[in-house]
Amino acid sequence: MNEKVSALLNDQINKEFYSAYLYLDMANFYTQKGLDGFANWFEIQAREEQDHAMLMYRYLQNNGEKVTLEAVAKPDKTFQTLTDPLKAGLEHERYVTSLINRIYEAAQEAKDFRATQFLDWFIKEQGEEEKNSMDLITKMELFGDDARSLYMLNSELAGRVYSAPSLVL
Ligand code: FEO
Repeated sequence: MNEKVSALLNDQINKEFYSAYLYLDMANFYTQKGLDGFANWFEIQAREEQDHAMLMYRYLQNNGEKVTLEAVAKPDKTFQTLTDPLKAGLEHERYVTSLINRIYEAAQEAKDFRATQFLDWFIKEQGEEEKNSMDLITKMELFGDDARSLYMLNSELAGRVYSAPSLVL
């Protein structure tokens, strides 16, 4: 594999585990606020991030690359309002999109077409992640101030179920 593409993917494994940690901390915030549905939504989000990391881990191994695991940073965001984690989540996803785009660009430059094909799934996934985050912020801004609506939104989010990623290596 191209050295740069391999290094960026290796680094992204760490970023994905950090994302999982960050979302778990957001779930933790909502649990403390008594909003189990919001917590469920973020716990599933955290599981998805672990899946992303594992897909990259396996892809590198399948291509004969050595994976190096680094320390995962502490989630360092603090939240005041119930909307804060949602906004921080969207901001974080936009950052992750920029990282994925950078790896994609490196793979294109290296003419590593297997890597671009692998990354296509992540490009699409980032679009979905950003949309989900934006939708949640919109709902919260529309209904979050009303206790009954917040209760219903929490119930809706409690219904989210985990499903394994559609990308199989
Ligand atoms: Fe792994 Fe939320 O992107």
